[in-house]
Amino acid sequence: MTMNRYTLLGRSGLRVSPISLGTMTFGTEWGWGAEEQTAQRLFDLYVDAGGNFIDTADGYTEGTSERWVGKFVAQRGLRDRLVIATKYTYNAEPGNPNAGGNHRKNLLRALDGSLKRLATDYIDLYYLHTWDRMTPVDEVMRAMDDAVRAGKIRYVGLSDTPAWFAGRAQTLAEWRGFEPVAAMQLEYSLIERHAEHEFADLAAQLGMGLVPWSPLGMGVLSGKYRPSRDGAPSHVSGSGRLASLASAPPPGFDKLTERNFRIVAELEQVANDVNRPMAQVALNWLYQKRGVSSIIVGATKPEQLQQTLGSLDFMLAPEQIARLDAVSAPARPFPYYMFADGHQARIHGHVEVASKPAAYDRPVVVPAPEANAANATTR
Ligand SMILES: NC(=O)c1ccc[n+]([C@@H]2O[C@H](COP(=O)([O-])OP(=O)(O)OC[C@H]3O[C@@H](n4cnc5c(N)ncnc54)[C@H](OP(=O)(O)O)[C@@H]3O)[C@@H](O)[C@H]2O)c1
Repeated sequence: MTMNRYTLLGRSGLRVSPISLGTMTFGTEWGWGAEEQTAQRLFDLYVDAGGNFIDTADGYTEGTSERWVGKFVAQRGLRDRLVIATKYTYNAEPGNPNAGGNHRKNLLRALDGSLKRLATDYIDLYYLHTWDRMTPVDEVMRAMDDAVRAGKIRYVGLSDTPAWFAGRAQTLAEWRGFEPVAAMQLEYSLIERHAEHEFADLAAQLGMGLVPWSPLGMGVLSGKYRPSRDGAPSHVSGSGRLASLASAPPPGFDKLTERNFRIVAELEQVANDVNRPMAQVALNWLYQKRGVSSIIVGATKPEQLQQTLGSLDFMLAPEQIARLDAVSAPARPFPYYMFADGHQARIHGHVEVASKPAAYDRPVVVPAPEANAANATTR
């Protein structure tokens, strides 16, 4: 179960575990998280298994997530060994438009708040959390670069932005000498594959590591939910975050659908074939996708995390991946259907033309020392 290897985050030299610990469930403020004692057990389980990559955000559970992460890290004296990622964007003071958004004033306000809650003097990876649809890209990248030069952050990340925004950010960084974007965080799983249209190529061409969130579709891909006879999401069986929100799911939480249960059915068959839990198979499938550096898993119970941390102890065969690819294939709207093989054959005169490999494709794997991987460093 020990995660005995690290990957490089995008084109940076930062070593991160292939599985990252999501801490959005640290705290009960949102109604579906864990109490402090359980959160601490999740944290201990993760770092004792060799994990070094922790994900939080300034707004998670009203600041509790960051506070507990800071406390747990300090208690075990792990600050230097861990890579702590947090995020800014969401408003912290209703009525004040400058207490939210992607702009410089909010970035600096939020960053100082995160440093205090995390009880640290630097953040390893600082993400813009979600595009605000108005702040210019150059303002974001310049403000991020200033924060790197001020020693408050080490690496820059983006989350939930359009691909054009990320492409422009990276190009500005390259041409103006700003700290480049090392990581791109997106929802990506067997039930949410739209990221593949743009972001796999973005990662490969521009050197950003993809860091998928909600890789189990918030629990659907563990197989614990079963469809109801009448198909109504609020009548499904199984308990957890999605069941508790099924009668009025907020945007993005409406995952108990007929389509998703079809994917779960095929996942169950593949899981039976390889004799592994469905959650492990879903994460293994995702880790083999192009450009993925590290997957952020969430948990409310230690036994869940125990299971997901074993997801990379085996490898699905190409035939099993193909079955999962087929059942979960995303629709190909315009212009993406034009990039499919059949359409491209008309461009290349029905001759097979191999393109050059991208400058950056899979992250490099850095093996940890065999002995005592939990305390491994990767010098
Ligand atoms: N950048 C962004 O916009 C963004 C958005 C969302 C999340 N994130 C990050 O991504 C992290 C992970 O997101 P997520 O929690 O939605 O991920 P997820 O891994 O898809 O779902 C985790 C949830 O699934 C259930 N679960 C996990 N393992 C299980 C198992 N083995 N068996 C049965 N149920 C299991 C648990 O919920 P229940 O016990 O309640 O069923 C758990 O909390 C977050 O903590 C956060 O750090 C980022």
